[in-house]
Amino acid sequence: MADNKRPETMERITTAQLAQAFIDEQVKAVQEQVGDKKVLLALSGGVDSSVVAALLIRAIGQQLVCVHVNHGLLRKGEPEQVIRVFRDQMNANLVYVDAADRFLGLLEGVTDPETKRKIIGGEFIKVFAEEAAKQEGIQFLAQGTIYPDILESEQGIKAHHNVGGLPEELNFELVEPVKFLYKDEVRVVGSALGLPDNMVYRQPFPGPGLGVRCPGAITRDRLEAVRESDAILREEFEKNGLQGKVWQYFTVVPDFKSTGIRDGERCFEWPVIVRAVNTRDAISASIEEIPYELLNHITDRIVHEVKGVNRVLYDLTPKPVATIEYE
Ligand code: XMP
Repeated sequence: MADNKRPETMERITTAQLAQAFIDEQVKAVQEQVGDKKVLLALSGGVDSSVVAALLIRAIGQQLVCVHVNHGLLRKGEPEQVIRVFRDQMNANLVYVDAADRFLGLLEGVTDPETKRKIIGGEFIKVFAEEAAKQEGIQFLAQGTIYPDILESEQGIKAHHNVGGLPEELNFELVEPVKFLYKDEVRVVGSALGLPDNMVYRQPFPGPGLGVRCPGAITRDRLEAVRESDAILREEFEKNGLQGKVWQYFTVVPDFKSTGIRDGERCFEWPVIVRAVNTRDAISASIEEIPYELLNHITDRIVHEVKGVNRVLYDLTPKPVATIEYE
Protein backbone atom coordinates (compact mmCIF):
# COMPACT_ATOMS: atom_id res chain seq x y z
CA MET A 1 0.00 0.00 0.00
CA ALA A 2 1.33 3.36 -0.94
CA ASP A 3 0.32 5.95 1.61
CA ASN A 4 -0.68 4.60 4.97
CA LYS A 5 -0.59 7.66 7.15
CA ARG A 6 -3.71 9.62 7.97
CA PRO A 7 -3.18 13.19 6.80
CA GLU A 8 -2.57 15.43 9.80
CA THR A 9 -4.95 18.03 8.41
CA MET A 10 -7.85 15.58 8.25
CA GLU A 11 -10.68 16.71 10.49
CA ARG A 12 -12.33 14.14 12.76
CA ILE A 13 -15.67 13.18 11.23
CA THR A 14 -18.23 13.82 13.94
CA THR A 15 -21.25 15.23 12.10
CA ALA A 16 -23.53 14.22 9.24
CA GLN A 17 -22.21 17.19 7.28
CA LEU A 18 -18.58 16.13 7.62
CA ALA A 19 -19.62 12.57 6.76
CA GLN A 20 -21.33 13.80 3.60
CA ALA A 21 -18.22 15.70 2.53
CA PHE A 22 -16.14 12.56 3.09
CA ILE A 23 -18.63 10.45 1.11
CA ASP A 24 -18.61 12.87 -1.83
CA GLU A 25 -14.82 12.92 -1.87
CA GLN A 26 -14.51 9.12 -1.67
CA VAL A 27 -17.19 8.49 -4.30
CA LYS A 28 -15.17 10.60 -6.70
CA ALA A 29 -11.87 8.95 -5.73
CA VAL A 30 -13.30 5.44 -6.14
CA GLN A 31 -14.84 6.32 -9.52
CA GLU A 32 -11.47 7.62 -10.68
CA GLN A 33 -9.58 4.59 -9.36
CA VAL A 34 -11.97 1.95 -10.69
CA GLY A 35 -13.28 3.42 -13.94
CA ASP A 36 -15.61 0.90 -15.57
CA LYS A 37 -13.96 -2.15 -13.99
CA LYS A 38 -15.45 -4.52 -11.42
CA VAL A 39 -14.72 -4.65 -7.69
CA LEU A 40 -15.11 -7.61 -5.35
CA LEU A 41 -15.94 -7.22 -1.65
CA ALA A 42 -16.26 -9.77 1.15
CA LEU A 43 -19.32 -8.44 2.95
CA SER A 44 -19.60 -9.90 6.44
CA GLY A 45 -22.33 -7.56 7.63
CA GLY A 46 -19.97 -6.04 10.19
CA VAL A 47 -19.70 -2.27 10.45
CA ASP A 48 -16.58 -1.80 8.34
CA SER A 49 -17.42 -3.98 5.35
CA SER A 50 -21.03 -2.75 5.39
CA VAL A 51 -19.94 0.88 5.23
CA VAL A 52 -17.52 0.12 2.40
CA ALA A 53 -20.30 -1.72 0.55
CA ALA A 54 -22.76 1.18 0.93
CA LEU A 55 -20.10 3.68 -0.16
CA LEU A 56 -19.11 1.66 -3.22
CA ILE A 57 -22.72 1.02 -4.21
CA ARG A 58 -23.12 4.78 -4.28
CA ALA A 59 -19.94 5.21 -6.31
CA ILE A 60 -20.10 2.35 -8.80
CA GLY A 61 -23.44 0.56 -8.33
CA GLN A 62 -23.55 -2.81 -10.07
CA GLN A 63 -19.80 -2.80 -10.77
CA LEU A 64 -19.44 -3.85 -7.14
CA VAL A 65 -19.85 -7.56 -6.47
CA CYS A 66 -20.50 -8.26 -2.79
CA VAL A 67 -19.91 -11.80 -1.55
CA HIS A 68 -21.56 -12.73 1.73
CA VAL A 69 -20.25 -16.04 3.03
CA ASN A 70 -22.46 -17.66 5.65
CA HIS A 71 -20.08 -19.98 7.52
CA GLY A 72 -22.88 -21.26 9.73
CA LEU A 73 -21.47 -19.43 12.75
CA LEU A 74 -23.31 -16.14 12.31
CA ARG A 75 -25.83 -14.80 14.78
CA LYS A 76 -29.54 -15.29 14.33
CA GLY A 77 -30.91 -13.01 11.61
CA GLU A 78 -27.54 -11.78 10.32
CA PRO A 79 -27.48 -13.27 6.81
CA GLU A 80 -31.11 -12.25 6.35
CA GLN A 81 -30.28 -8.66 7.32
CA VAL A 82 -27.37 -8.50 4.87
CA ILE A 83 -29.66 -9.68 2.07
CA ARG A 84 -32.47 -7.32 3.09
CA VAL A 85 -30.32 -4.21 3.42
CA PHE A 86 -27.96 -4.70 0.50
CA ARG A 87 -29.85 -6.72 -2.09
CA ASP A 88 -33.41 -5.56 -1.41
CA GLN A 89 -32.93 -1.98 -0.27
CA MET A 90 -29.70 -0.88 -1.93
CA ASN A 91 -30.05 -3.02 -5.04
CA ALA A 92 -26.55 -4.40 -4.65
CA ASN A 93 -25.02 -7.06 -6.81
CA LEU A 94 -24.87 -9.57 -3.94
CA VAL A 95 -23.71 -13.17 -4.06
CA TYR A 96 -24.93 -15.10 -1.02
CA VAL A 97 -23.02 -18.28 -0.30
CA ASP A 98 -24.52 -20.71 2.18
CA ALA A 99 -21.42 -22.64 3.20
CA ALA A 100 -22.65 -23.71 6.65
CA ASP A 101 -22.51 -27.47 5.92
CA ARG A 102 -19.02 -27.15 4.53
CA PHE A 103 -17.64 -25.32 7.57
CA LEU A 104 -19.48 -27.41 10.16
CA GLY A 105 -18.37 -30.59 8.39
CA LEU A 106 -14.72 -29.55 8.59
CA LEU A 107 -15.09 -28.53 12.23
CA GLU A 108 -16.67 -31.79 13.30
CA GLY A 109 -14.81 -33.28 16.26
CA VAL A 110 -12.21 -30.47 16.32
CA THR A 111 -11.62 -29.35 19.91
CA ASP A 112 -8.47 -27.23 19.83
CA PRO A 113 -9.38 -23.51 19.78
CA GLU A 114 -6.55 -22.41 17.51
CA THR A 115 -7.20 -25.25 15.07
CA LYS A 116 -10.87 -24.24 14.98
CA ARG A 117 -9.87 -20.63 14.19
CA LYS A 118 -7.46 -21.78 11.48
CA ILE A 119 -10.06 -24.01 9.83
CA ILE A 120 -12.64 -21.21 9.81
CA GLY A 121 -10.18 -18.59 8.50
CA GLY A 122 -8.66 -20.93 5.90
CA GLU A 123 -11.98 -22.18 4.61
CA PHE A 124 -13.31 -18.63 4.40
CA ILE A 125 -10.47 -17.70 2.06
CA LYS A 126 -11.10 -20.82 -0.03
CA VAL A 127 -14.82 -20.13 -0.41
CA PHE A 128 -14.16 -16.51 -1.24
CA ALA A 129 -11.47 -17.38 -3.80
CA GLU A 130 -13.87 -19.85 -5.45
CA GLU A 131 -16.50 -17.15 -5.75
CA ALA A 132 -13.91 -14.72 -7.09
CA ALA A 133 -12.93 -17.26 -9.77
CA LYS A 134 -16.58 -17.47 -10.90
CA GLN A 135 -16.73 -13.73 -11.56
CA GLU A 136 -15.44 -12.31 -14.80
CA GLY A 137 -13.40 -9.18 -15.16
CA ILE A 138 -12.73 -8.41 -11.52
CA GLN A 139 -9.71 -6.14 -11.14
CA PHE A 140 -10.15 -4.72 -7.68
CA LEU A 141 -10.66 -6.02 -4.18
CA ALA A 142 -12.38 -3.71 -1.71
CA GLN A 143 -11.58 -4.05 1.98
CA GLY A 144 -13.00 -2.54 5.12
CA THR A 145 -9.57 -1.71 6.49
CA ILE A 146 -9.80 1.07 9.07
CA TYR A 147 -7.05 3.20 10.60
CA PRO A 148 -6.60 1.16 13.82
CA ASP A 149 -6.01 -1.92 11.60
CA ILE A 150 -3.13 -0.12 9.91
CA LEU A 151 -1.69 1.12 13.21
CA GLU A 152 -1.99 -2.32 14.80
CA SER A 153 -0.40 -4.02 11.79
CA GLU A 154 2.51 -1.59 11.97
CA GLN A 155 2.94 -2.27 15.68
CA GLY A 156 2.84 -6.00 15.04
CA ILE A 157 -0.30 -6.50 17.15
CA LYS A 158 -2.33 -7.82 14.26
CA ALA A 159 -0.72 -9.92 11.58
CA HIS A 160 -3.35 -8.83 9.12
CA HIS A 161 -6.45 -6.76 9.17
CA ASN A 162 -10.01 -7.83 8.76
CA VAL A 163 -11.65 -11.01 7.62
CA GLY A 164 -8.62 -13.23 7.98
CA GLY A 165 -6.31 -11.69 5.42
CA LEU A 166 -7.82 -12.18 2.03
CA PRO A 167 -5.65 -13.97 -0.48
CA GLU A 168 -2.86 -11.76 -1.71
CA GLU A 169 -2.32 -14.19 -4.56
CA LEU A 170 -5.69 -13.14 -5.96
CA ASN A 171 -3.66 -10.29 -7.34
CA PHE A 172 -6.23 -7.58 -7.16
CA GLU A 173 -5.58 -3.92 -6.68
CA LEU A 174 -7.02 -2.79 -3.34
CA VAL A 175 -9.83 -0.30 -2.81
CA GLU A 176 -9.85 0.83 0.82
CA PRO A 177 -11.99 3.95 1.11
CA VAL A 178 -12.22 4.04 4.93
CA LYS A 179 -8.61 3.19 5.72
CA PHE A 180 -7.92 6.52 7.42
CA LEU A 181 -11.04 6.48 9.57
CA TYR A 182 -11.37 5.62 13.23
CA LYS A 183 -14.26 3.40 14.25
CA ASP A 184 -16.45 6.25 15.50
CA GLU A 185 -16.03 8.01 12.16
CA VAL A 186 -16.91 4.85 10.23
CA ARG A 187 -20.18 4.75 12.18
CA VAL A 188 -21.01 8.38 11.43
CA VAL A 189 -20.33 7.76 7.73
CA GLY A 190 -22.44 4.56 7.84
CA SER A 191 -25.42 6.46 9.24
CA ALA A 192 -25.03 9.15 6.60
CA LEU A 193 -25.10 6.41 3.96
CA GLY A 194 -28.45 5.24 5.30
CA LEU A 195 -27.40 2.00 6.99
CA PRO A 196 -29.66 0.90 9.86
CA ASP A 197 -28.57 1.72 13.42
CA ASN A 198 -28.35 -1.91 14.49
CA MET A 199 -25.80 -2.46 11.75
CA VAL A 200 -23.83 0.74 12.31
CA TYR A 201 -23.77 0.62 16.12
CA ARG A 202 -23.54 -3.10 16.54
CA GLN A 203 -21.22 -4.68 19.08
CA PRO A 204 -17.95 -6.27 17.99
CA PHE A 205 -18.31 -9.81 16.71
CA PRO A 206 -15.29 -12.08 16.16
CA GLY A 207 -14.48 -13.45 12.71
CA PRO A 208 -14.84 -17.09 13.86
CA GLY A 209 -18.28 -16.08 15.08
CA LEU A 210 -20.28 -18.30 17.38
CA GLY A 211 -17.59 -20.95 16.90
CA VAL A 212 -15.56 -19.46 19.78
CA ARG A 213 -18.70 -19.44 21.95
CA CYS A 214 -19.33 -23.14 21.49
CA PRO A 215 -16.18 -24.34 23.30
CA GLY A 216 -14.66 -27.65 22.27
CA ALA A 217 -16.05 -29.65 19.37
CA ILE A 218 -18.96 -27.80 17.76
CA THR A 219 -22.17 -29.76 17.41
CA ARG A 220 -25.20 -28.43 15.56
CA ASP A 221 -27.54 -28.75 18.53
CA ARG A 222 -25.22 -26.93 20.94
CA LEU A 223 -24.48 -24.28 18.32
CA GLU A 224 -28.22 -23.76 17.96
CA ALA A 225 -28.45 -23.28 21.74
CA VAL A 226 -25.72 -20.59 21.49
CA ARG A 227 -27.54 -18.87 18.62
CA GLU A 228 -30.96 -18.91 20.25
CA SER A 229 -29.75 -17.81 23.69
CA ASP A 230 -27.67 -15.02 22.09
CA ALA A 231 -30.76 -13.82 20.24
CA ILE A 232 -32.76 -13.68 23.49
CA LEU A 233 -29.96 -11.80 25.28
CA ARG A 234 -29.68 -9.26 22.44
CA GLU A 235 -33.43 -8.79 22.29
CA GLU A 236 -33.66 -8.16 26.05
CA PHE A 237 -30.66 -5.81 26.10
CA GLU A 238 -32.18 -3.82 23.26
CA LYS A 239 -35.60 -3.67 24.94
CA ASN A 240 -34.08 -2.54 28.23
CA GLY A 241 -31.82 0.20 26.89
CA LEU A 242 -28.54 -1.67 27.35
CA GLN A 243 -27.70 -1.94 23.65
CA GLY A 244 -25.07 0.69 22.92
CA LYS A 245 -24.38 1.06 26.65
CA VAL A 246 -22.70 -2.30 27.15
CA TRP A 247 -19.72 -2.80 24.86
CA GLN A 248 -20.08 -6.52 24.23
CA TYR A 249 -22.53 -9.15 25.46
CA PHE A 250 -23.12 -12.71 24.42
CA THR A 251 -23.81 -16.25 25.54
CA VAL A 252 -21.64 -19.36 25.64
CA VAL A 253 -22.76 -22.98 25.87
CA PRO A 254 -20.02 -25.18 27.37
CA ASP A 255 -19.75 -28.83 26.55
CA PHE A 256 -21.11 -30.40 29.73
CA LYS A 257 -24.49 -31.21 31.12
CA SER A 258 -25.99 -31.05 34.58
CA THR A 259 -29.14 -32.31 36.22
CA GLY A 260 -32.40 -30.45 36.16
CA ILE A 261 -36.10 -31.20 36.49
CA ARG A 262 -38.50 -30.68 33.63
CA ASP A 263 -42.15 -31.77 33.76
CA GLY A 264 -41.42 -33.80 36.88
CA GLU A 265 -38.59 -35.73 35.21
CA ARG A 266 -34.84 -35.51 35.67
CA CYS A 267 -33.13 -34.00 32.67
CA PHE A 268 -29.45 -33.62 31.75
CA GLU A 269 -28.96 -30.42 29.83
CA TRP A 270 -26.38 -27.70 29.13
CA PRO A 271 -25.90 -24.46 31.01
CA VAL A 272 -25.86 -21.12 29.19
CA ILE A 273 -23.23 -18.64 30.37
CA VAL A 274 -24.09 -14.97 29.94
CA ARG A 275 -21.20 -12.50 29.59
CA ALA A 276 -21.54 -8.71 29.41
CA VAL A 277 -18.43 -6.54 29.50
CA ASN A 278 -17.41 -2.95 29.17
CA THR A 279 -14.08 -1.82 27.84
CA ARG A 280 -12.35 1.00 26.05
CA ASP A 281 -9.87 -0.96 23.97
CA ALA A 282 -10.64 -4.67 24.57
CA ILE A 283 -7.25 -5.02 26.27
CA SER A 284 -8.87 -5.03 29.68
CA ALA A 285 -12.57 -5.28 30.45
CA SER A 286 -14.88 -4.91 33.43
CA ILE A 287 -18.14 -6.65 34.16
CA GLU A 288 -21.38 -4.84 33.57
CA GLU A 289 -23.83 -4.71 36.46
CA ILE A 290 -27.03 -5.97 34.96
CA PRO A 291 -30.21 -5.30 36.96
CA TYR A 292 -31.09 -8.44 38.88
CA GLU A 293 -34.67 -8.42 37.67
CA LEU A 294 -33.53 -8.40 34.05
CA LEU A 295 -31.10 -11.28 34.71
CA ASN A 296 -34.00 -13.23 36.20
CA HIS A 297 -36.17 -12.54 33.19
CA ILE A 298 -33.41 -13.52 30.74
CA THR A 299 -32.82 -16.73 32.72
CA ASP A 300 -36.50 -17.57 32.64
CA ARG A 301 -36.71 -17.03 28.90
CA ILE A 302 -33.55 -19.01 28.12
CA VAL A 303 -34.45 -22.09 30.18
CA HIS A 304 -37.94 -22.16 28.68
CA GLU A 305 -37.21 -21.18 25.09
CA VAL A 306 -33.82 -22.70 24.29
CA LYS A 307 -33.80 -26.40 23.61
CA GLY A 308 -31.43 -28.49 25.73
CA VAL A 309 -30.68 -25.82 28.36
CA ASN A 310 -31.61 -26.07 32.05
CA ARG A 311 -29.35 -23.49 33.76
CA VAL A 312 -28.15 -19.93 33.23
CA LEU A 313 -24.92 -18.60 34.78
CA TYR A 314 -23.55 -15.05 34.82
CA ASP A 315 -19.81 -14.65 34.28
CA LEU A 316 -18.35 -12.23 36.86
CA THR A 317 -14.73 -12.43 35.70
CA PRO A 318 -13.01 -9.29 34.38
CA LYS A 319 -10.23 -9.25 31.78
CA PRO A 320 -7.60 -10.03 32.91
CA VAL A 321 -7.57 -12.81 34.09
CA ALA A 322 -10.32 -14.02 31.74
CA THR A 323 -10.32 -12.98 28.09
CA ILE A 324 -13.54 -11.56 26.69
CA GLU A 325 -14.26 -14.59 24.51
CA TYR A 326 -14.11 -18.18 25.75
CA GLU A 327 -11.72 -19.55 23.14
P1 XMP B 1 -10.42 -11.48 23.81
O1 XMP B 1 -11.23 -12.74 23.86
O2 XMP B 1 -9.03 -11.71 23.26
O3 XMP B 1 -11.17 -10.54 22.76
O4 XMP B 1 -10.39 -10.75 25.12
C1 XMP B 1 -10.89 -9.18 22.54
C2 XMP B 1 -11.80 -8.69 21.43
O5 XMP B 1 -11.45 -9.30 20.18
C3 XMP B 1 -12.52 -10.08 19.68
N1 XMP B 1 -11.96 -11.36 19.17
C4 XMP B 1 -11.78 -11.66 17.87
N2 XMP B 1 -12.06 -10.96 16.76
N3 XMP B 1 -11.24 -12.74 15.44
C5 XMP B 1 -11.81 -11.52 15.54
O6 XMP B 1 -12.09 -10.92 14.52
C6 XMP B 1 -10.93 -13.50 16.50
O7 XMP B 1 -10.44 -14.61 16.36
C7 XMP B 1 -11.22 -12.92 17.78
N4 XMP B 1 -11.05 -13.35 19.05
C8 XMP B 1 -11.51 -12.38 19.88
C9 XMP B 1 -13.46 -10.31 20.86
O8 XMP B 1 -14.80 -10.52 20.43
C10 XMP B 1 -13.28 -9.06 21.65
O9 XMP B 1 -14.06 -8.01 21.13
